[in-house]
Amino acid sequence: MNIVITGGTSGLGFRTAFILAQDSKNKIILIGKNKAKGEQAIKSLNNETKNKNLSFLQVDLSSIFETSSLKEKLANKKIDVLINNAGALFYSRIESEDGIEKTFALNHLSYFILSNLLLKHKIIKNGGRIINVASGAHRGVDINFDDIEMVTNYNGWVSYKKSKLCNILFTKKLSELALKNNITVNCLHPGFVKTGFGKNNTGVIGLIIKSLMSLFAIRVEEGAETIIYLATSNNVKNISGEYFYESKINKPSLNSENKKSADNLWDLSIKILKNKGLTL
Ligand SMILES: NC(=O)c1ccc[n+]([C@@H]2O[C@H](COP(=O)([O-])OP(=O)(O)OC[C@H]3O[C@@H](n4cnc5c(N)ncnc54)[C@H](OP(=O)(O)O)[C@@H]3O)[C@@H](O)[C@H]2O)c1
Repeated sequence: MNIVITGGTSGLGFRTAFILAQDSKNKIILIGKNKAKGEQAIKSLNNETKNKNLSFLQVDLSSIFETSSLKEKLANKKIDVLINNAGALFYSRIESEDGIEKTFALNHLSYFILSNLLLKHKIIKNGGRIINVASGAHRGVDINFDDIEMVTNYNGWVSYKKSKLCNILFTKKLSELALKNNITVNCLHPGFVKTGFGKNNTGVIGLIIKSLMSLFAIRVEEGAETIIYLATSNNVKNISGEYFYESKINKPSLNSENKKSADNLWDLSIKILKNKGLTL
């Protein structure tokens, strides 16, 4: 299989790559922002799995231009599985190079742009799979479509929660559109997993996340299991539009099942990208 994993250079993405690379028939492309980290990831995967069909693409997925450049970079591949996994929490409000709030840009728009481009240009195969790494953190919030980028009253944790709600709304809508190409789209909660997540935040919040992880988080091996299940299991080859936890369908929040919100998010994402010069 040809597999693309965004944020494949550490944490859940890296662990997923490690397991999938053990099948020498799998060709895996990791996408990450940090070149040295990407090269190191490939080196260690090569050493540990002996799989030589591994490569790294350096892309800042919070950038619309860089993310959309993946259309050319992946043009001659026929992708079987796209795993949208890159994500982060930004304790303070910062904007991407396009002037978009960075949590929304990275955690939602990168999934939106990459999936749409691969579908539209038939880079993902008929019968392929798109997997969006969401989170149980989506619960307890809703989207404010008048201020989706949280210009007022920004709170990093709330912004993160909303971006993960976007992942589920997007999964539901995209699964309907991808049906005609027999492509499945599912999302998941990996559990609370000990990874590098949150390390980009310095100060108290970084320390809090680190302490909570060392006390309560599960091992990355366990966290990656549902991603690997969705990428490989025959049991899910005809299931689409669902939210999984521990390799089973799980019921997400009521807000994530609101069809009107899914439509609004889709339209607003198209509009924001169009205003920034990207027509999907
Ligand atoms: N850990 C948890 O408890 C947990 C729970 C629920 C959901 N999740 C979700 O799981 C996913 C993976 O998180 P993780 O815990 O594995 O975190 P992680 O260890 O911090 O890994 C994040 C990955 O995303 C990449 N990334 C971050 N910003 C990027 C950018 N601008 N452009 C390109 N790549 C970028 C990183 O690469 P670089 O270092 O090169 O930037 C890294 O490979 C996220 O979507 C997160 O929301 C995690």
